[in-house]
Amino acid sequence: MASNTPAPAAALDRTLILELVRVTEAAAIAASALVGRGDENAADAAAVDAMRRAFDLLDIDGTIVIGEGERDHAPMLFVGEKLGRAQGSGPKIDLAVDPLEGTTNTAKGGHNALAVLAAAEQGHLLNAPDVYMQKIAIGPGYPDGVVGLDKTARENIDALAAAKGVDPQHITVCVLDRPRHGELIEELRSIGCGIVLIPDGDIAGVIATTEEDTAIDIYMGSGGAPEGVLAAAALRCVGGQFSGRLIFRNEEERARARACGITDFDRIYLIDDLASGDCIFAATGVTNGSLLDGVRRLRDGGFATESVVMRASTGTVRWIHSEHRTA
Ligand code: FBP
Repeated sequence: MASNTPAPAAALDRTLILELVRVTEAAAIAASALVGRGDENAADAAAVDAMRRAFDLLDIDGTIVIGEGERDHAPMLFVGEKLGRAQGSGPKIDLAVDPLEGTTNTAKGGHNALAVLAAAEQGHLLNAPDVYMQKIAIGPGYPDGVVGLDKTARENIDALAAAKGVDPQHITVCVLDRPRHGELIEELRSIGCGIVLIPDGDIAGVIATTEEDTAIDIYMGSGGAPEGVLAAAALRCVGGQFSGRLIFRNEEERARARACGITDFDRIYLIDDLASGDCIFAATGVTNGSLLDGVRRLRDGGFATESVVMRASTGTVRWIHSEHRTA
């Protein structure tokens, strides 16, 4: 017999999806005014401020788990900050934010800068310290564990090529263009792989492995751990595999990890360890990139934005073109 008791409301109400896009749109539009102005801090601050204000219009009881850093050196969107106007009454949601992913790209007028966030039910996003993370990611459709951080670059490429049914030379790898990746790049060159070197923005680099038109098969190398959690949230929605291992350069970084509750410093994190349960990932382009077009100024003074928003529980991916007109 049907019960008269209404089902408990899911923390991530489906209407929240569009509300969250408004948040990344606001951050992207604010940052776009600083594109090419050579001031990374000003661009970041504009995005942070706009994102913070947009969150406060949402009926959520949100908490930042990945943000601009600890409270003592981030005035806004710091880890632990409460966001949303339904504190104590609305759905409890954990938020991972990167208001401006690609501050350098933005300041230099380069490609691939994004405003990004992920939202999940309370306790379902890893509170990752702001340290480096070794990462490996591939798109959907491969057997579980075909690549991993316990294998060498060559073993990973060989395994992926065999699973894809191509020669290793036909695998294309996305790597952040950094001196620390010199050895990795040399090894990949000796295999004969294609390498797409990106100047910044490894969230887009990881997501590129899931998209057929990018021709990127695998992401390898180290980047920010917070960006690793955001990328894992995106892959939870669209499929694919991701592994990450935190990299500690000194005792201070280990202490930061301990403060986040991390005790196993060698642990390899898989997607579900980074983002679990239902989650939403949203991004808006600040500058043109492989994932999204950047903010465009309209003749009438408004702005056009391109965003993507995805949800893990349904696998729905929405590409949203918006035109914003100020009053
Ligand atoms: P920021 O926007 O914080 O500068 O991050 C850009 C980025 O390229 C990330 O995508 C990446 O994870 C990280 O920097 C890599 O760090 P580093 O620039 O120190 O190699």
